[in-house]
Amino acid sequence: MQAINASISFDRRLWRQDILGSRAHAAMLAKQGILTPADAEAIDAGLVAIASAIENEDFSFDPALEDIHMNIEARLIERIGEAGRRLHTARSRNDQVATDFRLWVRDAIDALHAMLGRTMLSLATRAQAYAATIMPGFTHLQTAQPVTFGHHLLAYVEMFARDQARLADCRRRLNECPLGAAALAGTSFPIDRIMTAVALGFDRPAANSLDAVSDRDFAIEFLSALSILAMHLSRLAEELIVWTSAPYRFVRLSDAFSTGSSIMPQKRNPDAAELARAKTGRVFGALIGLLAVMKGLPLAYSKDMQEDKEAVFIGFDAVELALAAMAGMIMDMQPDAARMHAAAGVDYATATDLADYLVRDLGMPFRTAHHVTGRIVAEAEARGVGLVDLSLDVMQAIEPRIDGQVYGCLSVEASVASRRSYGGTAPENVAAAAARWIDTLTPESSVSET
Ligand code: ARG
Repeated sequence: MQAINASISFDRRLWRQDILGSRAHAAMLAKQGILTPADAEAIDAGLVAIASAIENEDFSFDPALEDIHMNIEARLIERIGEAGRRLHTARSRNDQVATDFRLWVRDAIDALHAMLGRTMLSLATRAQAYAATIMPGFTHLQTAQPVTFGHHLLAYVEMFARDQARLADCRRRLNECPLGAAALAGTSFPIDRIMTAVALGFDRPAANSLDAVSDRDFAIEFLSALSILAMHLSRLAEELIVWTSAPYRFVRLSDAFSTGSSIMPQKRNPDAAELARAKTGRVFGALIGLLAVMKGLPLAYSKDMQEDKEAVFIGFDAVELALAAMAGMIMDMQPDAARMHAAAGVDYATATDLADYLVRDLGMPFRTAHHVTGRIVAEAEARGVGLVDLSLDVMQAIEPRIDGQVYGCLSVEASVASRRSYGGTAPENVAAAAARWIDTLTPESSVSET
């Protein structure tokens, strides 16, 4: 029974939140005349002492006491006697754990939000440095059109900004206080739920006592937001793995972020990126696992819900680690601008620029220009040369109106410089976007606004 029932091995991570919740509850009970001021003071001092004992690893958690709530309460009674036995008036472990867990998830959201902000700032800073560094842009992982490395990095800043917004949205909805819902029906004591909600930084008390003790939407929303974030980290990791591979070698990771092979001395493996990509499995698993735990539960609390915490801890730990590793690699990576530039020009990456020239300068309809460009590309392919290497008469044999101006749009530099449409890859756009992000994300600038 103890083996299946006890949760102390993992829910000890809630100790700070449990103590905060109990201190707020005791203060409220005293203000409402449910506890004497002397008892409330003894409880508060006892809880503060227990917090420092746990902090200093001078606390032994006992699985016979099942969970973090009973471990702390038992220690309190041991320390202060009778008064400690009054703390559990007008509450239940059901509203207690729901409160502690919301507080924990809220702290986790705040920590991740800040980490994401720092990672975005690193990306934007590097994007600014590489606003004009040309690389191939891909679709289907086939060379498509030249882009800049800075533009590519800023795409991830946009993705992480959405992750921050999803976390903030989850935080907004979770910020209601279950404390005072008691076991499921509320309590006969004259408690002040607004007081405890405010003391714990919640926006308001949860409105329905049955929902308050049995809702785990906040944990599921948190894991959903983490799953999308993990998916983004995995995509970035995948790019680094491709870019650092020998046939590409667009980017180099230092020894700090590569490992050698035990048999092939030349290998530089991007293990940290691979593991960041793999951690995604745990996060998706945690989300699906918790959804499955919750799906058949009648109102209100069932012990099944004790399984919520490991799912959230596993998901959070995996994302925190993957994010830290990816942030480290973002700062560490050294792009090889010459290799990127060379790769940007192969495979007729400026064919679209040729078609655009035919439309813009010769007034050709785009579909016709697309067809003519296809014929010119085929000619270059047959000769085994690039588009810039074709002489004017070869191109004029296909379309007589083509003139010398055409060469002005066939280089990769001209290609990226021309893409000045809103959100396009032109270096001036990228530099401006990077500067905007740096301004938004730099701590000093946000402080000066407040
Ligand atoms: N350890 C329990 C949990 O995490 C606390 C709530 C227990 N409540 C109860 N009625 N047995 O869910």
